[in-house]
Amino acid sequence: MTDLLVKNCMLANNKDPRDILIEGGIIKDISTEIIVEKIPVIDADFHFVTPPFVDSHFHMDATLSYALPRVNKSGTLLEGIKLWGELKPTLTADAIKERALKFCKWAIARGTLAIRSHVDVSGQNLIGVEALLDVKEMMKDFIDIQLVAFPQDGLLRANCLNNLKAALDMGVDVVGGIPHFERTMEEGHESIRILCEIAEKRGLLTDLHCDETDDPMSRHVERLAMETTRLGLNGRVAGSHLTSMHSMDNYYFSKLISMLVEADLNIIANPLINITIQGRQDNYPKRRGLTRIPEQLNAGLKVAFGHDCVMDPWYPLGSHDMLEVAHMALHCCHMTGINEMESCFDAVTINAASVLHLDNYGIKKGSNGDLVVLQCKDKIEAIRLKPARLFVVRRGEVISSTRPVRYELNLRSKKENEDLLFKG
Ligand code: FE2
Repeated sequence: MTDLLVKNCMLANNKDPRDILIEGGIIKDISTEIIVEKIPVIDADFHFVTPPFVDSHFHMDATLSYALPRVNKSGTLLEGIKLWGELKPTLTADAIKERALKFCKWAIARGTLAIRSHVDVSGQNLIGVEALLDVKEMMKDFIDIQLVAFPQDGLLRANCLNNLKAALDMGVDVVGGIPHFERTMEEGHESIRILCEIAEKRGLLTDLHCDETDDPMSRHVERLAMETTRLGLNGRVAGSHLTSMHSMDNYYFSKLISMLVEADLNIIANPLINITIQGRQDNYPKRRGLTRIPEQLNAGLKVAFGHDCVMDPWYPLGSHDMLEVAHMALHCCHMTGINEMESCFDAVTINAASVLHLDNYGIKKGSNGDLVVLQCKDKIEAIRLKPARLFVVRRGEVISSTRPVRYELNLRSKKENEDLLFKG
């Protein structure tokens, strides 16, 4: 918990620059000019300053395991799950921890200071849970990690209810599930009822992988909304992926969306992963397979984006850059209107923080002294350029920094050498 003065910040809602004063790790003042003595000062140099990125959906127990023990040849979700099943028995807590710690450093350097990570509880043991609880504790001064007890092979299909409850007893924060991977639609529905009742009884948030399929009849989200409303969990439940919604009948969707609003269901889309995993069995034209993000936003639902995977059985790429995620969503969902582009930025910052129920988030007096200085001027330019994270500040301490990126051209005349490459 330290003090810091950040000069010359361009904020989302101010045309003129502001200074931000952090005292004891908390934002104490935001004004046009703040003068204080004897505390560290950094200069944002009129660059855009944002609250940290928040990744609302990730799998830290699988990350950086690409090609272990082999690659996913078909690129499908189902081969990815099979491959993960082959890898699981060979995993050790130390190996999971080592990869997760390395990944956390990548995330922090990119300005992400909160991550909701699912952790598989459907195996023979809970070493993934033990490892990630350790990582959460080890990294707590730098990044908030929220863990979800996730029965990857199906709560009922893999008979792992006891494991899931044990993981929650050990300190895992959120109830997870995967109804579309249960054997039948009925078992999928039943798993939702069981999981929501556990969440209600324990006072926990819920986040289910839900309808991550191209099957338009995969309608577990309907049951998730119904159970959320029945149990009074409104605003505390998230549906992750929801890709079947892409393929649903429009009339049915018009009924469904009102149920989602009634339940105040939080939406978590994973654009990088679903654009590569969905539509694999289609002939041309191939479906994109993302959930209906613009329609959900227009209905007033909270929509957040997750990175989901970095170099694991499901996705061979990624460097954990949440702006890459926002960029992909914007393109895949035709969201090129100004408000739509800004909402893609919000989906990896303020909306994601709200979905995770993070306390004291945002650049305002009284909030945590957490911020990121980006080498750009606003939200839209951030998505366009995916710029350098000049400073990453956590509770008033600079925990990562990068020199401004400058391209030095060597063309024929001085004029041509001016840095005009990326200016608007
Ligand atoms: Fe996932």
